[in-house]
Amino acid sequence: MASNKRKSPTTETKQSSYDIPWVEKYRPRNLEDVVGNEETLVRLRAIADDGNMPNLILCGPPGTGKTTSVHALARQLLGSAYSNGVLELNASDSRGIDVVRNKIKSFAMNRVNLPAGRHKIIILDEADSMTAAAQQALRRTMEIYSNTTRFALACNVSTKIIEPIQSRAAILRYSRLSDEQIFNRLRYVCEKEEVSYDDDGLGAIIFTAEGDMRNALNNLQATVSGFEHVSQANVYKVCDQPHPTTVRKILDSCVKGDTAKAVAEVKSLWETGYSCSDIIGTLFKVAKTYDLPEALKLEYLKEIGFTHMRIADGVGTLLQLLGLAARLCQKVQVSHVDS
Ligand SMILES: Nc1ncnc2c1ncn2[C@@H]1O[C@H](COP(=O)(O)OP(=O)(O)OP(=O)(O)O)[C@@H](O)[C@H]1O
Ligand SMILES: [Mg+2]
Repeated sequence: MASNKRKSPTTETKQSSYDIPWVEKYRPRNLEDVVGNEETLVRLRAIADDGNMPNLILCGPPGTGKTTSVHALARQLLGSAYSNGVLELNASDSRGIDVVRNKIKSFAMNRVNLPAGRHKIIILDEADSMTAAAQQALRRTMEIYSNTTRFALACNVSTKIIEPIQSRAAILRYSRLSDEQIFNRLRYVCEKEEVSYDDDGLGAIIFTAEGDMRNALNNLQATVSGFEHVSQANVYKVCDQPHPTTVRKILDSCVKGDTAKAVAEVKSLWETGYSCSDIIGTLFKVAKTYDLPEALKLEYLKEIGFTHMRIADGVGTLLQLLGLAARLCQKVQVSHVDS
């Protein structure tokens, strides 16, 4: 038995910071360090200064800092009482109606020593996964204990929170982070971790992350542990998405109206093994920034959008992509004839 428990000293020394996921290692501890969403953060910082926290709903896309900011706010409000004064329930806990009735109520009734004028905080993370019945059970609880306890709900879509709860809380919205905000944060992490990188490599991470900081940091770490150097080619190998330059070439051929070439290029990309949704996703992202006359670009985006919809409906075949390429070529030919 004793030998089972023994830890070899080497495993302990190897437990370096290298093993911690960077998303956790670089999770901001206070509100000042949270990047982006300025308006929302100004409000949160004002709440932290003022000390009187209203019930809050934070909603927005994944990886934009909701969980991070709600914990930072609680830490700033409660200081050393943070561990006793906060109850966190997230989607991995059962949060049925019984939990709301028992666990939340008993926490709300508990006496806890807090700094003067502060409230206990109940964080309901991923609140959009709570059943409507459990949310209903929360309505009155929120009111009854309002002089000692405040609620902070984080979710991706605010419409999944029932209206009575929305009306009891201040709603703070998060949006995707801008390329520049992610770039600066990635550079900061690269410098701290002494990563060898080039700007094109970071650009590729930003391109694949689509405004999601968690995704960006994870891809950065995956690239570093796989290839050490963060370059464009290495990032696309790790993220396993079609290379935008290849996709750009397809668009080049479409704009020239060269159907045969565009079709051949789509085919060869397909044969490298990417799925339809990977290809159409990248095609959309590339087309968004592709230099085209406005009207033609809108037509292109519309066609790509329709095809994306069909693929999302389950018709993910090569034929869909080839049809799209042919239609994109046709658009240009038609507009040439018009002019
Ligand atoms: N605004 C930000 N500033 C700095 N780091 C961020 C920011 N947003 C996200 N991150 C990084 O991404 C990680 C995940 O963020 P967080 O848990 O706050 O996302 P979330 O908005 O709660 O997403 P989800 O909706 O998936 O729960 C953090 O640990 C942090 O490293
Ligand atoms: Mg979260």
